[in-house]
Amino acid sequence: MCGIFGYVGSHADAAGIVLRGLKKLEYRGYDSWGVAVAQDAHVVLEKSIGKIGDAAPNLPPSTIGIGHTRWATHGGVTQPNAHPHLDCTGHLALIHNGIVSNYRDLRDPLARAGHRFQSETDTEVVAHLLEEYLTRTPAGPEQLVTATIAAFRKLHGLNAIAVLDVSTGQMAAAKSGSPLVVGWSGHGHMLASDYSALLEHTRRVTFVDDGQAVLVSRDTSRLFDVDTGRELTPEITEVEWDVAATELGGYPDYMTKEIHEQPAMLRRLAEQWGDHARRLAQALREARDVFVIGCGTASHAALAAQYLLARIAGRRVNVATGSEFAYLRDFIGEGSLVLALSQSGETIDIIDAARAARQRGARIAALVNVEGSTLWRLADVAVPLGAGPERCVLATKSFTAKLAILMMTAYELTGRVEAGAALVRDAADEIARLLTDDRRDLIRRVADEIYRREHLFAIGRGPSYPLALEAALKIKEVSYVHAEGFAGGELKHGVIALIEPGTPCVVLAPRDETHDDIMAGAMEVKARGALLIGVSPEAHEAFDYWIPVADLGPATAILNAVPAQLLGYYLALLRGHDPDKPRNLAKSVTVK
Ligand code: F6R
Repeated sequence: MCGIFGYVGSHADAAGIVLRGLKKLEYRGYDSWGVAVAQDAHVVLEKSIGKIGDAAPNLPPSTIGIGHTRWATHGGVTQPNAHPHLDCTGHLALIHNGIVSNYRDLRDPLARAGHRFQSETDTEVVAHLLEEYLTRTPAGPEQLVTATIAAFRKLHGLNAIAVLDVSTGQMAAAKSGSPLVVGWSGHGHMLASDYSALLEHTRRVTFVDDGQAVLVSRDTSRLFDVDTGRELTPEITEVEWDVAATELGGYPDYMTKEIHEQPAMLRRLAEQWGDHARRLAQALREARDVFVIGCGTASHAALAAQYLLARIAGRRVNVATGSEFAYLRDFIGEGSLVLALSQSGETIDIIDAARAARQRGARIAALVNVEGSTLWRLADVAVPLGAGPERCVLATKSFTAKLAILMMTAYELTGRVEAGAALVRDAADEIARLLTDDRRDLIRRVADEIYRREHLFAIGRGPSYPLALEAALKIKEVSYVHAEGFAGGELKHGVIALIEPGTPCVVLAPRDETHDDIMAGAMEVKARGALLIGVSPEAHEAFDYWIPVADLGPATAILNAVPAQLLGYYLALLRGHDPDKPRNLAKSVTVK
């Protein structure tokens, strides 16, 4: 987590460039932010806790600057703990994404040598360590990167660091585990955690690999190997996304924008993603056994895939959440396929799982939204999710995109990918209907009735079970209403004890073989006073509110994701929360 951004070039508004870059990276953490620029061979710095919002830092004109948006790990959310961190000379400003797990061992000798620490962070240790190495490194154009590499080699853990040196007007960076991208533009060079922050300036980027360092000056960026110090030739890639796709475009927030993008996105996937479904299906065909993994919302997509593949294609797959996969890896070997699902392609538990599986001889297939991300580059079969940039911290369109592609893959396994694509098109049309004013008003009325409640439950059976889990996650993470999703059949095994008069319960009741049983469970909670919110093609006397959705067979799962997205959104607004940046969260979970 944490976002890092640096600029060196011909524009004198480095502070503004860095701040705009940080705003694009805030999805990575928003506990605090900070920007440093060079003025008269000194660092001038501004840092603040909280989100960037409309902040307008009072920093001098400069052609070089560095900045950070923080998701706190070591040290509380305070102004001194905000990055950048300075060395004792005030010539170096350093930012960091990751955890330096041996920072205590490094800090003590530095403190004994007279270095003065201003924060409780692991990051500040690196600034002082680099200061030490700079004094021991011969002067010259590569002094900064040589010292950065030497300091970086001493760090344990998964990290990306970047430093601005006002003495030379250069930036250096190194990474292992955390993402780092270099941007090449006509007016300068940039560093960022993610290329979406660079699109305002360039689509030409270099993805820095683990164990690589960069030296960035106004005219060029040079790449080095951390182990050998040898210079490497950077590979420049032209990325697809454009800057307009990362802007609000008239929507009040990114959550609304991304929910509303789903119909067009699904139509595009139905038209263009047949080949990708074929590639995934081929990887599945060739595998002896398949493990589908994901974290959070992606783990719900993995569970949904298990039902879709079983029911449409009769194909059995195993499902594991990314962080639990390590404990199951004894089953992985030659002939296994790990299918990793990830919007960001940077979720550390997924990357670790994929690497561990590869070591045991498995192939890695990945369905990833951010092309060029770590997971994308390590996969044997990398399939783009095609959802476009997702800036809201909540996964919405990336979830429905995963369901759509996995469903088309299941149809491809039966030789009928077009049937899957037709269902995705139908889902797009139905979601467009769900997003009309009438339906949204209905969901807003439900939110109005329940927003003061502290608990909510969502139930579904069979293919709707993962959707119940996802509905609960969407609602709780954005509204902070405690919401839990359950398999409908599990209610009587304990959960029903939590139902009180008025407890809202979202009931996913498609017209399939789960309908009667899920409705029986719904009646049981209704008998104990629950307020039932039915998501179903059919009205039912037990429903206090009925959100009508179409019956689309296997594609109903795609459609059923949307009511909870909207309900979570309206609950968040009514409870006074920022839907794009819920507390304590970061979109890309790059630390353990
Ligand atoms: C929930 C959410 C998270 C992510 C999870 C995995 O709305 O956004 O649960 O789904 O952190 O992220 P990716 O898909 O980037 O691996």
